[in-house]
Amino acid sequence: MATARGFGVDIGGSGIKGCPVDIDGGVLAEERMRIPTPQPSTPSAVADAVAEIVEKFAWTGPVGITLPCVIKDGSALSAANVDKGWIGTDAQELFAERLGRTRDDVLVLNDADAAGIAEMRAGAGAGHRGLVVVLTFGTGIGSAMFIDGQLVPNTEFGHIEVDSLDAETQAAASVKDDLELSYEEWAPRVSHYIQALEKFLWPDLIIAGGGVSKKGHKWIPLLETRTPVVAAALRNDAGIVGAATAATTRHNA
Ligand code: BGC
Repeated sequence: MATARGFGVDIGGSGIKGCPVDIDGGVLAEERMRIPTPQPSTPSAVADAVAEIVEKFAWTGPVGITLPCVIKDGSALSAANVDKGWIGTDAQELFAERLGRTRDDVLVLNDADAAGIAEMRAGAGAGHRGLVVVLTFGTGIGSAMFIDGQLVPNTEFGHIEVDSLDAETQAAASVKDDLELSYEEWAPRVSHYIQALEKFLWPDLIIAGGGVSKKGHKWIPLLETRTPVVAAALRNDAGIVGAATAATTRHNA
């Protein structure tokens, strides 16, 4: 029997990536397509890029799309690392129109929430109950919180204040790159951030995601945290897989 397929698109500060997903296996079904995020990353320029990817695969089914924004009822309510024009945009309507689909065939969700959904279903969080926090380290820091496997959306823990500064400006993976820090130099920043989070949250597990999780063995063992930290299993594909999973599940419900 053919396995169920879905389609996910992950919109980030530097790249827009998408492809069909094997929903049951929780993995990419084909080689993903990536195009650089248009600059400025306005809603209409990004919608064109998303359409290019969906059309390249001649995909006609439901599509899940992530944005690095707080998303409520399909609308973006924040825009930390994308064009501010997203704030107040009904992203679900925009993508549905651009893709020639009904609103019900498009699901828009926060990028870290999508990554978390994939990790909890088929990755490092599979089978974990209790309080699990997924942190994605990239241009910013994204977060997804799960209680007994249930997502609490739009947590935005990347923006907690640490030493009166926005945490992601101190500990995101982009900071490591911009300041040319070694893993040994960057890891204490991540520890400091997680310790600040641990002052008001007592997670049972933290899953560290984002592109930098590929090299997790180089920095996760250096962390000094109360909570066990493990590397994400799906690495940078988690957003695509989670978006496709969420859109397909809702469509079939
Ligand atoms: C945004 C979040 C996003 C994270 C990762 C943060 O700056 O506020 O919504 O999940 O970056 O992209």
